[in-house]
Amino acid sequence: MEPFTVPDLNAQGYSFSQDWFTQHIPNWQAYVTPSLKDEPIACLEIGCFEGLSTVWQLQHLCTHAEARLHCVDPWPDPLVCKRFNQNILHSGFSKKVRRYRSTGLTRFCSPVAHATG
Ligand SMILES: C[S@@+](CC[C@H](N)C(=O)[O-])C[C@H]1O[C@@H](n2cnc3c(N)ncnc32)[C@H](O)[C@@H]1O
Repeated sequence: MEPFTVPDLNAQGYSFSQDWFTQHIPNWQAYVTPSLKDEPIACLEIGCFEGLSTVWQLQHLCTHAEARLHCVDPWPDPLVCKRFNQNILHSGFSKKVRRYRSTGLTRFCSPVAHATG
């Protein structure tokens, strides 16, 4: 597996400007992935920014073919939104991602929540 750092990922063709995530990877590896990796899970990520944590989850958590990752973020900055889309596309796992361009859970948890991509 390639090293998961922003400089390395950017060198691999991703586009990440900030890292809020990699410091938390040991906790994910200790408490989340051992029981859920390779399972047909449906994950909800609230606050995805450019997709750094999203890409990690796609590579290390949502590894089952039927796993899905539901991504909620208002993406107020069009450049950040564009980077998220490009990074998910570049990951090769875009078919596992459902994107909800929205603030908060109220709309997402309504009886009819529509993915926007
Ligand atoms: C610290 S960044 C997330 C970083 C990302 N998880 C990562 O590891 O790269 C916070 C994100 O939360 C989003 N956000 C803020 N308020 C939100 C809300 N009410 N619902 C969903 N997303 C929200 C912001 O647009 C921003 O992209």
